Amino acid sequence: MLLEDIVKKILQARVYEAARETPISPTPSLSKRFSNQILIKREDLQPVFSFKIRGAYNKMAQLDEAQKAKGVIAASAGNHAQGLAMAARQMGVKAVIVMPRVTPEIKVQAVRGWGARVVLKGDAFGEALAHAKELIDEHGYTYIPPYDDNDVIAGQGTVGMEILRQHSGPLDAVFVPVGGGGLLAGVAAYIKYLRPETKVFGVEAEDSACLKAALEAGERVTLDQVGVFAEGVAVAQIGEAPFEILRHHVDGVITVNTDEMCAAVKDIFDDTRAVSETSGALSLAGLKKYIQQTQVRDQTLLCINSGANINFDRLQHVAERTELGEQREAILAVQIPERPGSFKQFCRVIGRRMVTEFNYRYADPDGAHIFVGVQVKPGGEDRAEVIRRLREADYPVEDLTDNELAKLHIRHLGGGRPRERFEEEVYRFEFPERPGALMNFLTHLPADWNISLFHYRNHGAAYGRVLVGLQMPNGDRAHAEKHFDRIGYRYWKETDNTAYRLFMA
Ligand SMILES: Cc1ncc(COP(=O)(O)O)c(C=O)c1O
Repeated sequence: MLLEDIVKKILQARVYEAARETPISPTPSLSKRFSNQILIKREDLQPVFSFKIRGAYNKMAQLDEAQKAKGVIAASAGNHAQGLAMAARQMGVKAVIVMPRVTPEIKVQAVRGWGARVVLKGDAFGEALAHAKELIDEHGYTYIPPYDDNDVIAGQGTVGMEILRQHSGPLDAVFVPVGGGGLLAGVAAYIKYLRPETKVFGVEAEDSACLKAALEAGERVTLDQVGVFAEGVAVAQIGEAPFEILRHHVDGVITVNTDEMCAAVKDIFDDTRAVSETSGALSLAGLKKYIQQTQVRDQTLLCINSGANINFDRLQHVAERTELGEQREAILAVQIPERPGSFKQFCRVIGRRMVTEFNYRYADPDGAHIFVGVQVKPGGEDRAEVIRRLREADYPVEDLTDNELAKLHIRHLGGGRPRERFEEEVYRFEFPERPGALMNFLTHLPADWNISLFHYRNHGAAYGRVLVGLQMPNGDRAHAEKHFDRIGYRYWKETDNTAYRLFMA
């Protein structure tokens, strides 16, 4: 489709019978901190707390009376489900949403609250989608896709239309979160048609960067694994219709990690008092990275806060990771002499910095391994300075700031070293948060294996993080992973991880 045709579709899109025209918020403190004017388009203020109502409503508005009489269907555990449910209610059309059984109750309730019928089916999205197709064959429902459709793209594109109408001054770059690419495709099409000089960037989570992979390969590719921390954008393959637009009309893709997203959730809160979901804050994390990488000053940069559907108990985890995302905390393993006064000496070397964490336990008379968090200035230079000072003072130091095992588990476990020497293999797992997940794991392990360590912490996320130590007969070690492959949970071997070796082995 030509850019002009998409822009026409956007201009004709029907969204305002359900969606709001959302404001653009200034960010005084963030703008000052980064020496640029930073603006946030507030799609978190939609009645379903995400932009998804726009595409769903516009798609439904194109249906004929016979299709409407039969009803619509989607498979979704996320924001599309809520958008479609609301759109259907507004039009008086029956809606069926198939959700995986693991969908958090809060989302099931929200969809029911809009009057849609919820069918819980399967453990994963694929099974829910397959069931939706069966129901279509049976009842003649019309499937409403979440992103791979030009009417959906046009609906999402009204966000771009509002941005240019509301902000008539200079606009240097716009940052948009990417899942299947519907929002970015609509926004990029509109902005590039009217203001080609404005840069448009997609922002993806590092572990679900399907647009980046497609642009690099020159064609759509399917990622083997997809991280679910930002579940709104956890998509393995960029949509076909979005990609036709994106391959020609975006200026690039920026990827960010979990900690950077968490830091952006806090930034949005600090300036607007709005709580965003991780996918919603993704675009701001990308915007900040762009400033750091290009060192731009005095520009006007806008990001879209795309949603606010986050479970409250998950905020605890977000808050915990924020300091790391801002690179304001260094996590270090330091060996100090096991004798009176040596802690004090160590603190002197650290200087007038705040110690954010400190774990240690007596292990042997020769030395103590301490797990320490230190507040540092963002940017990495200050962290390097702390490490340099410690090494100059003859302390052996390991930098664990980017070590997932250290941040997720070891900080809560430091010193859990067995008294006698024994061999164990250590694995980190992502368990689905559902009843029976542990039992399923245990029943797949051979009966003669002994569990020597088990650490789990609930973050209110879709997955629980579990650290397991296993004692197994020597002959089993080489094949241990074939048992885990059968279970189907993601896992990482951690037996050789420095953090484990220093604090647990
Ligand atoms: C909050 C939020 N942001 C961004 C996206 C990504 O949108 P798209 O799939 O159109 O790229 C989604 C998708 O559901 C979302 O829920």
